[in-house]
Amino acid sequence: MPETIDVRVAHRYRVAEDIICLELTPLSSPALPAFQPGAHIDIHLVSGAIRQYSLCGDPKSTNRYRLAILLDAAGRGGSREVHESLLEGSTVKIGMPRNAFPLVEGAAHSVLIAGGIGVTPLLAMAMSLRDSGLSFEFHYVTRSKSRAAFVNELIDCCGLSRFRLYSRDAQGGIGFSASSVIPPPEDGTHLYVCGPQRLIASVVATAREKGWNDAHIHLEVFATSTPRTGAAFRVVANRSNKSIDIGPEQTIADALLDAGIDVPLSCEAGICGTCITSVLEGIPEHRDSFLTDEEREQNQKMAVCCSRSRSSTLVLDI
Ligand code: FES
Repeated sequence: MPETIDVRVAHRYRVAEDIICLELTPLSSPALPAFQPGAHIDIHLVSGAIRQYSLCGDPKSTNRYRLAILLDAAGRGGSREVHESLLEGSTVKIGMPRNAFPLVEGAAHSVLIAGGIGVTPLLAMAMSLRDSGLSFEFHYVTRSKSRAAFVNELIDCCGLSRFRLYSRDAQGGIGFSASSVIPPPEDGTHLYVCGPQRLIASVVATAREKGWNDAHIHLEVFATSTPRTGAAFRVVANRSNKSIDIGPEQTIADALLDAGIDVPLSCEAGICGTCITSVLEGIPEHRDSFLTDEEREQNQKMAVCCSRSRSSTLVLDI
């Protein structure tokens, strides 16, 4: 079992509709491990579920961790358990901070685009960029103002000139347009996007159309709406000479990795195209947002991180 830390919910408060903020303090030491902006921790819930949440407090402060958790009524139940059981004063086990969404150090300019609860890692990034005196801008897309968390804090952190809120009921009803917000690519400029899959897909596609190099586009998916589970089927990994059963709860990528076959992965949400694999036989059930409609109809390649199979067997060139 990975190393865990016992913490107490020192403060709990509402920061937007359906979003609570938890401030966690250590039970047995004065400070918590330092973390980098973009990092997340596991929360080990009493039910046995383990859920990941981004740290959205100031990375300079290690006397407490701050999380913001959206109640996801259609989710697997983790956020509901957090909302119902992690009351002020309760204790919980957390994992060590891990960072799969790091800031590139010393970038000349950073464009941060948050959708909904995807604001959390980007808020920590904004604090870090502000403290380093680096150039950045922050775009925050929400369904409504009532669902926008930390707006005043973001304005304080970014300054009005670097912060923009997009929601249908914001003053003037400003709509978000990826193509107006994403600047032309420049050396030293990095783009970060975190939020729902649809927003990320649109931001990544627009950046690529404008000529951005993938190495300068950084993403973290929150609230993946595409289910990755489904009926069982078999995959024949042709080059690896292995035949693997894919269970209803498994992705092809997970099953291939379990079988010792290397699979390049990045977003694991069907957005980035890193895991695209050639299909030699069989009919995929495409669930990604990377392939074009034409490519889907051709059924010659698929995203193995999220897509499944319409046929009982798929033969892949891997
Ligand atoms: S890992 Fe990004 S599309 Fe599969």
